[in-house]
Amino acid sequence: MKTHVIAPSILAADFGNIQREVEMLNASEADWIHVDVMDGVFVPNISFGIPVCKAIHTHAKKPLDVHLMIEKPENYVEAFRKAGADIISVHYEACPHLHRNLQQLKDLGVQTGVAINPHTSVNLLRDVIHQIDLVCLMSVNPGFGGQTFIEGTYEKVQALRNIINNAGASTKIEVDGGVTIDNAKSLLEAGADVLVAGSFVFSSENPMDTISNLKNV
Ligand code: DX5
Ligand code: ZN
Repeated sequence: MKTHVIAPSILAADFGNIQREVEMLNASEADWIHVDVMDGVFVPNISFGIPVCKAIHTHAKKPLDVHLMIEKPENYVEAFRKAGADIISVHYEACPHLHRNLQQLKDLGVQTGVAINPHTSVNLLRDVIHQIDLVCLMSVNPGFGGQTFIEGTYEKVQALRNIINNAGASTKIEVDGGVTIDNAKSLLEAGADVLVAGSFVFSSENPMDTISNLKNV
């Protein structure tokens, strides 16, 4: 099995002990830390913003993978870059000028990410695939942790893998939402490179062991 990336979502962590939680991730086999930002407009929930991202960055020894579930991300990406983001994903559905957003991210020296909702076709990314370092395929409707994985995701992963391979691009595929030990292997076999897991990691008895299990499927 090829090496894949595990990106636990800090959204499911204990925010009263954020330093301890980040230090646990530092000590674990996690590769990245997934940071879910929600604005209450693009998605029907509010999570946290720039100061919390900065606080996570203060303690993190691993790259921050920032998932912006927000309207008008162009107004905030620079602030998130300064707050420590290494990868920033904007939503396809929030970006009528996606090519411009990708250029802006490149100019900021951050890895470029595009997240797509479950109803959005991967075919829509064809013309910009060379500009994208990471596609975040949503396997739940964004807005909440702990939702049920949408089974149609496997086919989307395969279709996106074909687009990337046919284009000769090096874009990584990330699957986000409802990932557990039960679907991890199938997702990797379908062509995923990065698995995000929130509640499955943080609700487990031993999050470090759970991360290790996901890393070694
Ligand atoms: C959903 C977020 C996900 C979520 C993952 O809006 O983008 O990253 O936190 O959480 P689980 O793994 O609990 O579905
Ligand atoms: Zn996310």
